[in-house]
Amino acid sequence: MSENKRYYITTPIYYPSDKLHIGHSYTTVACDALARFKRMQGYDVMFLTGTDEHGQKIQDKAADKGVTPKEYVDNIVEGEGGVKALWKLMNVSYDRFIRTTDDCHIESCQKIFTKLYEQGDIYKSVYKGHYCKPCESFWTASQLVDGKCPDCGRDVYEAEEEAYFFKTGKYADRLLKLYEDNPQFIQPESRKNEMIAFIKQGLQDTCVSRTTVPWGIPVPFDTKHTMYVWVDALSNYVTALGYGNSAYNDYDKFWPASIHMVGKEILRFHTILWPAMLMALDLPLPERVFGHGWLLMNGGKMSKSIGNVVDPIILCGRYGVDAIRYFLLREIPFGNDGMFTNEALISRINSDLANDLGNLLSRTVAMCEKYFGGTVAPTATATDFDDDLKAIVSAMPELVAKDMDELLIPQALQEIFKAIQRANKYIDETAPWALAKDESKKDELQNVLYNLCESLRMAAILLNAFLPNTAPKMAEQLGMDAAELDFANLTWGAKTSFTVHKGEALFPRIDVNKELAELAAQDAARKAEAEAAAKAAEAPKAEEKPAEEAAELEHLPEITIDDFAKCEMRVVKVLECERVKESKKLLLFKLFDGERERTILSGIAKWYAPEDLIGKHLVIVANLAPRPMMKGKYVSEGMILSAEDNEGNLTVLQVSESIKPGAQLC
Ligand code: ME8
Ligand code: MG
Repeated sequence: MSENKRYYITTPIYYPSDKLHIGHSYTTVACDALARFKRMQGYDVMFLTGTDEHGQKIQDKAADKGVTPKEYVDNIVEGEGGVKALWKLMNVSYDRFIRTTDDCHIESCQKIFTKLYEQGDIYKSVYKGHYCKPCESFWTASQLVDGKCPDCGRDVYEAEEEAYFFKTGKYADRLLKLYEDNPQFIQPESRKNEMIAFIKQGLQDTCVSRTTVPWGIPVPFDTKHTMYVWVDALSNYVTALGYGNSAYNDYDKFWPASIHMVGKEILRFHTILWPAMLMALDLPLPERVFGHGWLLMNGGKMSKSIGNVVDPIILCGRYGVDAIRYFLLREIPFGNDGMFTNEALISRINSDLANDLGNLLSRTVAMCEKYFGGTVAPTATATDFDDDLKAIVSAMPELVAKDMDELLIPQALQEIFKAIQRANKYIDETAPWALAKDESKKDELQNVLYNLCESLRMAAILLNAFLPNTAPKMAEQLGMDAAELDFANLTWGAKTSFTVHKGEALFPRIDVNKELAELAAQDAARKAEAEAAAKAAEAPKAEEKPAEEAAELEHLPEITIDDFAKCEMRVVKVLECERVKESKKLLLFKLFDGERERTILSGIAKWYAPEDLIGKHLVIVANLAPRPMMKGKYVSEGMILSAEDNEGNLTVLQVSESIKPGAQLC
């Protein structure tokens, strides 16, 4: 531990264009745990977070709401239920919050842009691309979908726009050398190869200005241009320290960053464009960029159809902030993707927090009160199990610190819980209730209870970085000052006696079935409400109903949203389609499902000529078990959705080509 070592940690700055969801909380909570841990290790920490407020998306959303972009972002950042309020609720101990609309940030960005232009790293040229007028967007050929705008599906035309470019390409070799000389620069290791491959395929210069996006930082020497949002956004890591402005004065102390923590989809900006910009500015490079995985929900994405379940404010309200923090930090293998499900969350809360941790504390405290009036101290009478318990608890701090250095946050928590589980086992082994029956075992009993308090004390000190609400509650029940939750006290025996006070259960056990049923009912109610509202908005009046729609329809039994969620329906594009020779009914499809090609046989030959469907975007049930057909000659991998009317006429469900293959129906 070095007393005056500095540690500069950053989260990405968030787009305030949408409400933050639990996936966003993941990065920030992970950084918070690291920041707290480093502070407790004696580092001088700067923990930066903020918001990325410029660009087309925000301009559009503000226009939709009829407010100025600044009014729009102010409300999301500073307002009730906004970004800052969420971080406060989740106990995110950031030291600084930068907004890219802050004057100091704008001032610095303009200086950076001008400097790069004056020294020749930024130059003026033309951006050639395909322009979608309604969307006011430029697209490269490879971004187009079937030659059309990937956003709206409309026609595009070739266009040119005057623009400034940054010479990213010039830095290709230096970037490769940077990765080679600093193996820890990109983590995890597996993502480094993607970046190397990206550079080796030929690194293009980056277009760094737009003339069609007014909501941005003006290029100071050519004000019809605004800066590309990523140049603006990445610069936050130095502007927030006072580089190029006088609002802050920490650049010398804290730059370069010890770590930039980012999601894997933005790793490329942080390991290519950003270091190239820094090289051009002749500034030191960050020590480490860590690309973490995503929090997935129900088959792949955080989706609005799951409604409030992913709202971190609601989740924290229902289960407590520390339960949510614990789940995020423990459940997701750091660096990989992880699933968020209600079942997994409840199971973590019950097994780790309520059973292992909560019970250990409440049993220990209760026994101290019952057998010794609350005060216990070590005695010279050991049990056979003491050495093993002490060894595991004493080894814990170093193991946890090592895991944290390697950013293995779930493993760090696992080490703490290993000690907690060992202490629970120690209760079973020593059976204090049996010792209590024998007056001659009184000293032994007291020693057992002291050892349990001591184990809990050590665990509480370490847990303070991860569960900042819970650790002080543990300390209180153990009769410690919150100030005693200090890494300096992480040695066995540092506290020589405990006077405990029984408190509330740290984490009440959740009745799984009852809870899941309640959540499902809430979801169903929300869905029904939304459906009713949608129906009310568009329902034709009864007398206007066309006759054929009034016919009796066949209904299936009601299902829950969870039943529905089991069905994976995806948009596919038809690549090939032909008749199956041996059959009058079947068409053989080759489809692209967003990931791969698949084969499906469908009994619709009566209604469609194969060539009519080629290139069309259809919907399939993607997770049906593959089915051998025509005596095993073909395997059909899913089902194409179609609709049949009362006369038995069949129409294949087609969707607009703007819905890309792989899109999931929800
Ligand atoms: O990308 N699981 O902002 P952003 C895990 N403004 N992480 C997730 C996630 C999920 N489901 N959803 C989002 C931006 N994130 C830019 C950053 S930095 C100079 C500019 C993470 O609001 C995502 O990976 O879209 C990213 O790291 C962060 O939230 C901010 O995402
Ligand atoms: Mg994003």
